[in-house]
Amino acid sequence: MAKEVFFLYPGTMLILAIETSCDETSLALVGARGGLRAPHFKIIKHLIASQIEIHRPWGGVVPNFAKREHLANLPILFKKLLLSRSYILNPDIIAITVGPGLEPCLWAGINFAEQIKKDNFPKAKIVGVNHLHGHLYSFLLTPPLALSKIFPAVQLLVSGGHTMLAYMKSLTEYKLLGETRDDAAGECFDKVARMLNLLYPGGPEIEKLAASPQSTLYNLQPIQFPRPMLRDKSYDFSFSGLKTAVLYYLRDKKLTPELKTAVAHEFQNAVIDVLTAKILHAAKAHDAKSIILSGGVAANQALRNELRKASKKIGAQFISAPKKFQGDNAAMIAVAGHITRLTKKSCPLKADGALQI
Ligand code: KG4
Ligand code: ZN
Repeated sequence: MAKEVFFLYPGTMLILAIETSCDETSLALVGARGGLRAPHFKIIKHLIASQIEIHRPWGGVVPNFAKREHLANLPILFKKLLLSRSYILNPDIIAITVGPGLEPCLWAGINFAEQIKKDNFPKAKIVGVNHLHGHLYSFLLTPPLALSKIFPAVQLLVSGGHTMLAYMKSLTEYKLLGETRDDAAGECFDKVARMLNLLYPGGPEIEKLAASPQSTLYNLQPIQFPRPMLRDKSYDFSFSGLKTAVLYYLRDKKLTPELKTAVAHEFQNAVIDVLTAKILHAAKAHDAKSIILSGGVAANQALRNELRKASKKIGAQFISAPKKFQGDNAAMIAVAGHITRLTKKSCPLKADGALQI
């Protein structure tokens, strides 16, 4: 393997980050500079071993299979990370996801972090990172932005397990405005995809279908799904009614390609309409300079386009990390690890499946 050489500014913290909360094993080596007012990150190496093929036949993540895969993948990725360096790397920090997530998977990562500290990097400090902070701070992986131009901001975090709307006054002062009362947006994508006989994970499959040039007409009849809580004044979401509406609509119908495309199209429109309306409402009410989007569902191009347009309409900037940093990844854990270290709020090194933001 060709070795790589990197120049790092003096004072750069070297962070080795590990993410194993669900079905992606990921390791990253990231250089971090600057304090809470101007953090900068340089990704030196970023590796992800996806388990999608393992879980696909089961239509969702099987926790024990996921743990087994993490245990197998972690040493392989670690070796790859070490081999790619032209010098002995000595991370200052090992950032490790401690929750929320699947506990057997989190334990696999935490134990591995402790093992490599003992065997390879005894001087490194282990920082326990909240996975949601990873998504929340992933926007810092975009080209450097002046924080004074970003805040106050509102952020929509949409993943397989969470749908949250937060107001951010600064990097560290934020509050949750609302969240889903039932299914997360990504979970709803996955469940509707299953109804349409699409592969797991459902979000990208629905997006692909919805992007094909087709209207929401089926047998020349328009399909109209509800937009739950669109007009509700709260910042909460609810997606289970939408999911049930799709289920009832599909009852007694033959799943033809035309039907699948029309349903995917209208379902995705319904989710995007609700998410866009809520974040716009929050942005206007809080005089937000920016609208930030994160989480696995943030890889959805139609959603990104819609939020970009909506942001422009109210004179706010739209910020979201590149798509490759929206799904679970260790680069965002390195970023959150840096912020966590600066705020001295490391999470205890124990797997916590239900850790809150
Ligand atoms: O953030 P993530 O990788 O894992 C969690 O922390 O949950 O999010 C995974 C979720 C899945 O539900 C997946 O279907 C959804 O993100 N997703 C998408 C897209 N890509 C991934 N949803 C809609 N459109 C996409 N392109
Ligand atoms: Zn996630």
